[in-house]
Amino acid sequence: MTVQLIDPFQRPITYLRVSVTDRCDFRCVYCMSENMTFLPKKDLLSLEELDRLCSTFVGLGVEKLRITGGEPLVRRDILTFFRSMSRHLETGALKELTITTNGSQLERFAADLYAAGVRRVNVSLDTLDEDKFARVTRWGRLPQVLRGIDAAQAAGLRVKINAVALKGFNEDELFTLAEWCASRDIDLTFIEVMPMGDLGNEDRIGQYWALSDLRADLAARYTLTDLPERTGGPARYVRIEETGQKIGFITPLTHNFCESCNRVRVTCTGELFMCLGQEDNADLRAPLRNHPGDNAPLEQAIRQAIFRKPKGHDFDYSRQRADGQVSRHMSHTGG
Ligand code: 5AD
Ligand code: SF4
Repeated sequence: MTVQLIDPFQRPITYLRVSVTDRCDFRCVYCMSENMTFLPKKDLLSLEELDRLCSTFVGLGVEKLRITGGEPLVRRDILTFFRSMSRHLETGALKELTITTNGSQLERFAADLYAAGVRRVNVSLDTLDEDKFARVTRWGRLPQVLRGIDAAQAAGLRVKINAVALKGFNEDELFTLAEWCASRDIDLTFIEVMPMGDLGNEDRIGQYWALSDLRADLAARYTLTDLPERTGGPARYVRIEETGQKIGFITPLTHNFCESCNRVRVTCTGELFMCLGQEDNADLRAPLRNHPGDNAPLEQAIRQAIFRKPKGHDFDYSRQRADGQVSRHMSHTGG
């Protein structure tokens, strides 16, 4: 019987987020620069290595697996990986297999994802205006994403929209977004923009829009009820009584949610990050590659890293950089 992963603050680690690629077919202004240099392919974990890595975590008690990127659906053969992971759903060891996507490839993949056991998808969508969508994603096209969302719902996938709150950009779409989601039975979560990576500031669209302000705007029109529901993550939820819909707020900058953190992240090169807001990480690629037939070194590397999981993040009084900025891009750590 293997011993579960428990960190030094008695938090069981049951949720793993894995980035399967740093590439993306969009170039969102808050996430990437226009001309990104991506990692050499040889540095990425192969699909076989990803499988072994995730399966090891499942063996250590991880019950929820979220596949992220970059854009996970642009990774070649990614369906093979999803199909392979579904064996852990069948045994019951894994309770949930999910994906965070920009939606651009969902039209093509939705039915296959459902068949592989995926039941929920998070789609990143900041605006319902075609021109604004093209501006904020630089390379994206809104109709393609809307078709992807249609396909996901038609396939039976529960859709959640993640919208990054950007002052002066989607502030005026607060009610449009909320009502659009309500009318389609889609959950909606707003994310406070986080200081990540060097994006070459020429393209700054919008600015920090505190979700406390966004919430106050919502409360001016609707009756909001706080929901006690927690997912171990940073999201807090309210219900809009008029529509019955649930709205989430992810506020890494203004709220501390670390005390109930149950998650760790692995990048596409096999670095294990114990906290999104800290630089400390452990290399899992070396034990994976150097010991193809022996899982003990990998397990040991994971356990040692979990033992270093910090109590909390530090976006505003950083130990790493004066401004609390984390130097890696979101597409690297995978949101
Ligand atoms: N701040 C907040 N959210 C971000 N995302 C990407 N970069 C940032 C950032 N700097 C979001 C995407 C997506 C999720 C994976 O992370 O929009 O919803
Ligand atoms: Fe791609 Fe998501 Fe980053 Fe946009 S936020 S560039 S969709 S990875």
